Amino acid sequence: MSAKRIDGKAISAQIKEEAAKEAAELKAKGIEPCLAVILVGEDSASQVYVNNKKKACEAVGIRSVAYELDAETEEGELLRLIASLNMDKTISGILVQLPLPKHLDETKVILAIDPKKDVDCFHPINVGNLQTGGKGFLPCTPAGIIALLKRSGTVIEGKRCVVIGRSNIVGKPVAMLLLRENGTVTICHSKTKDLAEICRQADIIVSAVGKVHTVTADMVKDGAVIIDVGMNRNEAGQLCGDVDFAQVQEVAGAITPVPGGVGPMTIAMLMKNCITAAKLQNGLL
Ligand code: GUN
Repeated sequence: MSAKRIDGKAISAQIKEEAAKEAAELKAKGIEPCLAVILVGEDSASQVYVNNKKKACEAVGIRSVAYELDAETEEGELLRLIASLNMDKTISGILVQLPLPKHLDETKVILAIDPKKDVDCFHPINVGNLQTGGKGFLPCTPAGIIALLKRSGTVIEGKRCVVIGRSNIVGKPVAMLLLRENGTVTICHSKTKDLAEICRQADIIVSAVGKVHTVTADMVKDGAVIIDVGMNRNEAGQLCGDVDFAQVQEVAGAITPVPGGVGPMTIAMLMKNCITAAKLQNGLL
């Protein structure tokens, strides 16, 4: 039997529609959400992501301003730009596209963003709020994964969840969100022993490693739900995830494709965070 496909395109479209409705409601109150996106250098993948973010803003009715800075931009200049956007009352959210060129200190740059404008949810204050269960921003890709699970009818409560990968952007925060949903969570990583055995016990597997064939059919329990965060190229140069899709779909209960699974959710959740930012700054949260 073949697994159900979890359709990230359709679910992200629903979420963007909801964000558009909220953006219109805010505008009716005289509040215009606006996202500032900063890109440093000419990384081609980052340019595509930033363009997609601008397009999504336009579709949802969120104003966006883009700052495209030279690859050699000095740290002081970037920090001054962030400081001016922090002060600017017309800017609701600030996003600095990562990775930054090597001479720039990502931690320092993230710390410079006003936590109330941190739509990526990367600032330690917001990471802390995520741990303690406070309200406010949720990190985009992890929140997108939870939305995919919930809206495709997967119950998380009481389930064994295995997260593969421990990055600050996906692995660690998605584990925390699964825990908040009352899942029983195991985090695996490059030093984990018996990954296959741990995965076989999972009702839900989230793979965020960035390596093809990380999850193969022998590692998947019958009927398990598989979320593939990987964005890789296979030997033939095709876009593919961490999961051996063709084989795993024969065993899994539900699975996200790559592309068209987790990918579109990140931007949809960013749109929601822009709305949250505008509300936070106007005392509506
Ligand atoms: N680079 C890759 N993913 C992300 C993301 O979610 N936000 C930012 N700012 N940069 C990224």
